[in-house]
Amino acid sequence: MTTILFLVGSLRADSLNARLARVAANELPEGHEATYFDLGALPFYSGDLEGERTPDIVAEFRDALRRADGVFFTTPEYNDALPGRVKNALDWASRPLRLRHALVGKPMNAAVATISPTNETRSLNDLKRIWGNCGGVTVAGFDFVLENAPAKFLDHDGVETLEPQSLATLRFALANLERLIEHQAGQVLEAHGDAFVEQLT
Ligand SMILES: Cc1cc2nc3c(=O)[nH]c(=O)nc-3n(C[C@H](O)[C@H](O)[C@H](O)COP(=O)(O)O)c2cc1C
Repeated sequence: MTTILFLVGSLRADSLNARLARVAANELPEGHEATYFDLGALPFYSGDLEGERTPDIVAEFRDALRRADGVFFTTPEYNDALPGRVKNALDWASRPLRLRHALVGKPMNAAVATISPTNETRSLNDLKRIWGNCGGVTVAGFDFVLENAPAKFLDHDGVETLEPQSLATLRFALANLERLIEHQAGQVLEAHGDAFVEQLT
């Protein structure tokens, strides 16, 4: 069973990005399970909360990342950049630094849903750059931006989906994540990480 963790960068109850994540989860092929973690449950990062004082919810988040074979992120762009809650989640996930943290070698792909008709890929670029800097692996290029998103959702027998062209692009984004997982690119980085930590200790 391949586990895909869905993370949503918006806290809004009727978030377009949360809706996109649900459509994506429904599109997972057989042999896959979807898991979720609510990024809004994480406190803001503080170094005072490291070590023994790490909140249980942060440990749960790191466990959810470790258990996942891959992560699919859906997030809006705020003021040409990542929403603060997403950056905060990455900061928590990237610690403790000297041990192999939960992002090392983790495959991730991402999509943006926006009300804008002409959105670009700035928040995706931010997300993929930071994820990679933290030691994770990402699908290069092929960024999926669901522009004018409210008009793209359809009801199919009571189940929400997307109009055909957007749905095909979403499936392609999921398939690219699958390829990243299958090629085990992350495991090479994990092995390097282990060797590096051994040198330090
Ligand atoms: C503070 C703020 C800044 C925003 N900046 C951008 C932006 O730079 N580019 C963009 O396309 N949309 C921007 N938006 C619009 C959101 O991306 C859009 O409303 C999106 O649908 C929100 O996602 P959600 O439905 O998942 O909450 C901004 C919204 C807010 C609240």
